[in-house]
Amino acid sequence: MRIFSGIQPTGELHIGNYLGAIKQWNSLQHQNNCIFCIVDLHAITVPYDTEKLSNLILEKAVIYLAAGIDPEKAIIFVQSHVKAHTELCWLLNTITPLGDLYRMTQYKEKSQKGKKNENAGLLNYPILMAADILLYDADIVPVGEDQKQHVELARSIARKFNSKFGETFTLPKEQLPTEGARIMSITNPKKKMSKSDPEASYISLFDSPEAIKKKIKSAVTDTYKTIKYDKEKRPGISNLLTIYSLFSEIEVKEVEKEMKGKSYKKFKDELAELMIIKLAPFRKRREEFLSREVYVKEILKQGQDAANSLAESKISEVKRKMGLI
Ligand code: TYM
Repeated sequence: MRIFSGIQPTGELHIGNYLGAIKQWNSLQHQNNCIFCIVDLHAITVPYDTEKLSNLILEKAVIYLAAGIDPEKAIIFVQSHVKAHTELCWLLNTITPLGDLYRMTQYKEKSQKGKKNENAGLLNYPILMAADILLYDADIVPVGEDQKQHVELARSIARKFNSKFGETFTLPKEQLPTEGARIMSITNPKKKMSKSDPEASYISLFDSPEAIKKKIKSAVTDTYKTIKYDKEKRPGISNLLTIYSLFSEIEVKEVEKEMKGKSYKKFKDELAELMIIKLAPFRKRREEFLSREVYVKEILKQGQDAANSLAESKISEVKRKMGLI
């Protein structure tokens, strides 16, 4: 199977990104043809700091490696290094109905953050994402729940292109993890954990043990006092139980049994300890790769070459089918 996925380079990588996406990438890379991209062109659709962006792109490559992505097994590259992404995006623009773009949840949320945030790139964002996926004929796109709608749109664009110009693209399918597809904010468990929210609301993959303890201590729960999963009525404790379950690889039901009779404080202490232990190797490997900039750049160059050769042959086919010479 061909697998494609990506993460934006801006903002910190949090445990939602890990549990929703990267954890799946890790296991998929052993038996599939995986391509993992740092989607820098998506990141510039919202206000950002030009001075910081280049470092953030390189840092994301470090993070992919630190999180266990093996460059011997998967292609790792930066989106803007392969020109065919923007080229295919333009071509797909011409067959994508505007109505489909206006109804995207992410567009609605981001454009509501103020008129100054509304730009054509923000609206066309899912078309670039479709181009990313379709360029490599990806079968499977491992993502968290918030990206499901975008992958569905990519599939519908592929279907439309195929029926208009002849069989060209593989129809991609999203793959969400069975648990952890939507990790919630720890300060507002009715909202998804997001890197654009205040720091206290998410746990970064690289938070220090002190920061993890502090954040978990102030995580929002409820007044029931029993450690029981009930997503609708008790979103806070349920989110913490999900996180505990995913890091310990023990089913939620079992965790409930283990925690029976314990106070919220005790549960939170144990959760913080568990996360500190599980996240320690990420912190260590990140430090190692940060000091190997030449190596990381070399990996991105190799990734660019490998991705480029696949993308160039696809874009030629697409242009031919569309009647461009
Ligand atoms: P991004 O950078 O916002 O998020 C990266 C991945 O993390 C997942 N995720 C979550 N999963 C569970 N709980 C959460 N709270 C949570 N927050 C984020 C996201 O679903 C995603 O899988 N548009 C994409 C990037 C992209 C892409 C692509 C992905 C561009 N082109 C092609 C797949 C294929 C995005 O902004 O992800």
